[in-house]
Amino acid sequence: MKYYIKTFGCQMNFNDSERIRGILQTLGYEQAEDWQEADIILINTCTIREKPDQKVYSHLGEYRKIKEKNPKAIIGVCGCLAQRMGEELLKKAPDVDLMFSSFNMHQLPELINQVQAGYKAIAILENPPEDEDKLWEYPLVRDNQYCAYVTVMKGCDKNCTYCVVPSTRGRQRSRSLESILKEVKALVDDGVKEIHLLGQNVTAWGQDLGIPFEELLYQVASVEGVERIRFTTGHPKDLTESIAKAMGEIPQVCEHLHLPFQAGSNRILKLMDRGYTKEEYLEKIDMLRHYVKGITFSTDVIVGFPTETEEDFEETLDVLRKVKFEQVFSFKFSPRPGTPASTMHGQVPDEVKTERMSRLIELQKSILSQIAKSYEGTVQEVLFEDYKDGILIGRTRTNRWVSVVGPEELLGKTALVKVTASKPYSMEGVLV
Ligand code: SAH
Ligand code: SF4
Ligand code: F3S
Repeated sequence: MKYYIKTFGCQMNFNDSERIRGILQTLGYEQAEDWQEADIILINTCTIREKPDQKVYSHLGEYRKIKEKNPKAIIGVCGCLAQRMGEELLKKAPDVDLMFSSFNMHQLPELINQVQAGYKAIAILENPPEDEDKLWEYPLVRDNQYCAYVTVMKGCDKNCTYCVVPSTRGRQRSRSLESILKEVKALVDDGVKEIHLLGQNVTAWGQDLGIPFEELLYQVASVEGVERIRFTTGHPKDLTESIAKAMGEIPQVCEHLHLPFQAGSNRILKLMDRGYTKEEYLEKIDMLRHYVKGITFSTDVIVGFPTETEEDFEETLDVLRKVKFEQVFSFKFSPRPGTPASTMHGQVPDEVKTERMSRLIELQKSILSQIAKSYEGTVQEVLFEDYKDGILIGRTRTNRWVSVVGPEELLGKTALVKVTASKPYSMEGVLV
């Protein structure tokens, strides 16, 4: 029996899929090369904007053909769109046999049994069940041998007015320190060098356990064999001075942080209910630069939030100019059903969003080419994650990709590299 999983969305969804693969392999399934050979196809969905929704539906339209060849094949949907739509989704995709929540991935074995017994298994829960921690008992099946994601927190307690995540992922639940450390140890034993802690709002980890986030960093760093630590996504409001200090103090914490600011205008930030001003955000950036020497940043930006004026948008560009992010993920505001922002007055026309977005991209391009140039001639510590035909590929601590000519033995190891050429999205270098 073979499985095929298609994953959309954020790193947390990817990590969930790694866990689902572990569940399926525990049941004896093997990974199929492509969906046409699968006995079970699962789509792990995202609904953060309208575009990912559409992608899910078009894939479902394609995958339903599997039943012509293999009538017993199971089609399943999980993840955030499944959570948001519930049974409604069956109206658009009647061939779906199985659906589960973001909350009950661990119940997948029973749900498959139900389908095999001839029923539809639709288990979208409103709230996380008491035994949701059972999920951690399943192994993970990962493609990257050296860098691993570790989900440390589920859900989100912020209420950004544009966002569906609190409703698709539920309240914030921190995973216990013990459970996290157990997984980290197992990963290191398996050859993993870089641990990437995940949560929609990872800097809020521990608030419900009475433990500050930086304690998690210290604990993970104390596991023997952990060479690098990253974490995503930090929230500016929860990023305290103690976290910044810990980042600077712990040698394994990499000099890079994804810290979304979303908008530069204080009026828009307030309408978004982000809980900080532009000035406060910039102060956090300065504080991080003070404690973590050489730190680089990436960010998320929403363009065309309701009522956004030309002046508001200029404030966003101003933040890009001031911070000089290494990467900016920019999104046109997409009204999501049930969120306060979707019904706000002053929705911005699509042409305006498109025009602002292209200006933002142009500006970022020129900033990035300056940043890229500044790497030339520098020496960077690189962890090699991939090797092909005599070329090693890895990332710097500041999260930039580098390729060098070198021996396969360096795969999974760190080495110093002198950067010889640097383009916006890639660099070349030589081993030092
Ligand atoms: N927890 C993270 C964000 C997760 S969603 C944080 O708070 O930073 C990833 C990104 O999608 C967000 O940072 C935001 O830029 C974008 N996004 C979320 N909802 C959106 C919407 N309705 N329209 C457009 N972009 C959106
Ligand atoms: Fe969504 Fe805001 Fe939570 Fe991020 S912090 S997941 S944007 S509600
Ligand atoms: Fe998408 Fe859900 Fe992640 S909506 S961005 S998959 S938390």
